[in-house]
Amino acid sequence: MTDVSRRKVLFMSTSVIAVFGLAQIATGAKPPINIAVYRNPGCDCCEAWTERLKTVGFNVTMTDDPALDQFRAKLGIPADLYGCHTAIIESYVIEGHVPPADILRFLGENRQATGLSVPGMPIGSPGMETGTASDKYDVLVFKSDGSRDVFASY
Ligand code: CU
Ligand code: CU
Repeated sequence: MTDVSRRKVLFMSTSVIAVFGLAQIATGAKPPINIAVYRNPGCDCCEAWTERLKTVGFNVTMTDDPALDQFRAKLGIPADLYGCHTAIIESYVIEGHVPPADILRFLGENRQATGLSVPGMPIGSPGMETGTASDKYDVLVFKSDGSRDVFASY
C-alpha cells in the first residue's frame, strides 16, 4: 500500500466513525431508530407524520388498530392526552403529532417518563400542515399517573 492510499483509508474510516458518533449523540439511540406506529384505520395525517419521521432517519412500521383507545389505556396514556396516533419507540410512547426533533431530544435525555404527547390534532404540527394557518400547541412529557410537564411549545 502506498502512503497516499493508506492515508485515504485512514481518512475514510475516521469520517465513518465521526458520522456514526454524531448520530448517536444527537439521538441517544443507535440508528436506525425503530418506531412502531398504530393508527385508526383510514386516518391520513398519521401517514404524513411518518413521512416526516422517515426524512430524519426513523425506520417506521405502521399498524391499523380499530381499538386504539384500549391500546392507549393499556400503555398508560392519560385519556386527556390522546392524540391522533400512538407510537412505541424504545421503551417510550409517542402520542400524536409530536415533532421529530422533539422525539430525538427526548430520547437523548433518558427521562423517567412514559412518553411525549401532542393532544388532539393541532393545525400546523408535523403532518397537519394546511397552508399558512397554525395553532399554538405544547408537546407534553407525561407519566402514566397523569402528571405532565411542557417539553416544548410552538
Ligand atoms: Cu392520523
Ligand atoms: Cu392526525
